[in-house]
Amino acid sequence: MGKVIVMDHPLIKHKLTYVRDINTGAKEFRELVKEVAMLMAYEVTRELPLEEIEIETPLTRAKSEVISGKKLGIVPILRAGLGMVEGMLNLLPTVKVGHIGLYRDPETLQPVEYYCKLPTDLQERDLIVLDPMLATGGSAKAAITFLKERGATNIKLMCLIAAPEGVKVVHDEHPDVDIYLGGLDEKLNDHGYILPGLGDAGDRLFGTK
Ligand code: URA
Repeated sequence: MGKVIVMDHPLIKHKLTYVRDINTGAKEFRELVKEVAMLMAYEVTRELPLEEIEIETPLTRAKSEVISGKKLGIVPILRAGLGMVEGMLNLLPTVKVGHIGLYRDPETLQPVEYYCKLPTDLQERDLIVLDPMLATGGSAKAAITFLKERGATNIKLMCLIAAPEGVKVVHDEHPDVDIYLGGLDEKLNDHGYILPGLGDAGDRLFGTK
């Protein structure tokens, strides 16, 4: 079964508190989401393989480690996932960025893909799917399924906040996917919002309310 890794760093906890706060305005909210994503990038890349290369310091030749050419990609789920992209790119400036847009069909209630643009060499990349709020888990589950259908084999999911219900839905369908969370909250309310949560992440990022 995939792991659930809940961040345990004071900086992330501190910043998430202000992300949650209703009195945090859109400008500060965006900045904080970016910073939390950047700090989480540190943890989500912890197991990247290293290789030794030879360099010359000003004093001597030396062997030293670099990341071993691992190909990465990040895939924000539109639209709220966009808020996490810049923070990831701050630490991982050369990753490729794919995008997936999903809506829920009002009749079948199934997620339908309306936009999908992915790196052409998807099969060779380790992918990190970005979705700030893992609520019912429907979109994340569907996005991961779409990526697997296109050949992706190594996928992680990174969210600012999750409800236990969403974690279960993703892991029931995708037990191979590790889930990285800024915080794991109590539950969903009757409208599918995470409690205590932060409200609607997309609306708070883009000021549409
Ligand atoms: N999407 C959000 O933006 N917030 C929630 O609480 C649940 C889903």
